[in-house]
Amino acid sequence: MVNITLAIIKPDAMAARHQGKILDRILQGGFNVRGSRIIRMSKQQAEGFYEVHRGKPFFEELTAFMSSGPTMPLVLEKDNAVADFRDLIGVTNPADAAEGTIRKDFAASLGENAVHGSDSDENAEKEVAFFFARADILGVF
Ligand code: CMP
Repeated sequence: MVNITLAIIKPDAMAARHQGKILDRILQGGFNVRGSRIIRMSKQQAEGFYEVHRGKPFFEELTAFMSSGPTMPLVLEKDNAVADFRDLIGVTNPADAAEGTIRKDFAASLGENAVHGSDSDENAEKEVAFFFARADILGVF
């Protein structure tokens, strides 16, 4: 599944009504949207998604934030999807993100950073499966 990544438009970007502009960046960046949902995660779901961060100092803040409002999980397809999406969104802290990246333009802080992107092919596969049934992903399997 090397050409797939999991993106999430986070509650801060949804509340600011930036999802349309972010989707436009994604599409203009050459990604195909193969799956999309609009969901509000429970605290427990957010903890499950970010299980790898359990025990870190920001875990409580992160999972409270991610369950605080609607989000849009997206299955994105492109050659080199994981790395290219991370280039499109910029580094985790928007203060350090390059000009023209999604986080530079739409994120306010390290904790509320507008979008998530998988960090490896292995995690992309797990993260896509966390949110999507195969039948709800268009034509990639
Ligand atoms: P994301 O790409 O969704 O993956 C884990 C998230 O944890 C990350 O984006 C940040 O929003 C958040 N995060 C990482 N480090 C910190 C930190 N030091 N303080 C608060 N949130 C953090």
